[in-house]
Amino acid sequence: MRLLFSGLLLLTACTPALPIVTDGDRAWARRAFPETQDDLDESRGLYAQKCSGCHLLVLPHKVPQGEWPRVVDKMAPKAHLTESEQVQILRYVLTASRPDKALAQ
Ligand code: HEC
Repeated sequence: MRLLFSGLLLLTACTPALPIVTDGDRAWARRAFPETQDDLDESRGLYAQKCSGCHLLVLPHKVPQGEWPRVVDKMAPKAHLTESEQVQILRYVLTASRPDKALAQ
């Protein structure tokens, strides 16, 4: 019983809470990237899928927003991203890591 319990704890500890996309995020992204119409939910899924193969998924706020373009550039070949997947993923992490996100919700 004890073993089962610690197993459960471990499981929850390992599941990163990747922020879901809010209406505030959608509005922010529309202003920040008026040239793209990508669906942010899809971009979030892409991020979870493509960026968790080698290491735990890095939560967007763990990297300063200004660092993300460099990081995604560096990781894109590792994750075999197409150009449009790279744009989508960057857009999601920039939206989810924006400094005013906590206030905007
Ligand atoms: C093929 C394996 C692999 C995949 C896929 C991968 N990464 Fe990484 N990632 C690494 C390795 C290895 C490191 C540490 C060494 C380095 O920085 O190259 C790393 C480091 C990082 C870091 C730490 C910061 C830094 O600059 O070192 C972040 C953030 C990161 N990855 C994000 C991502 C994102 C976002 C994706 C999806 C686009 C991704 N990773 C996909 C292997 C991978």
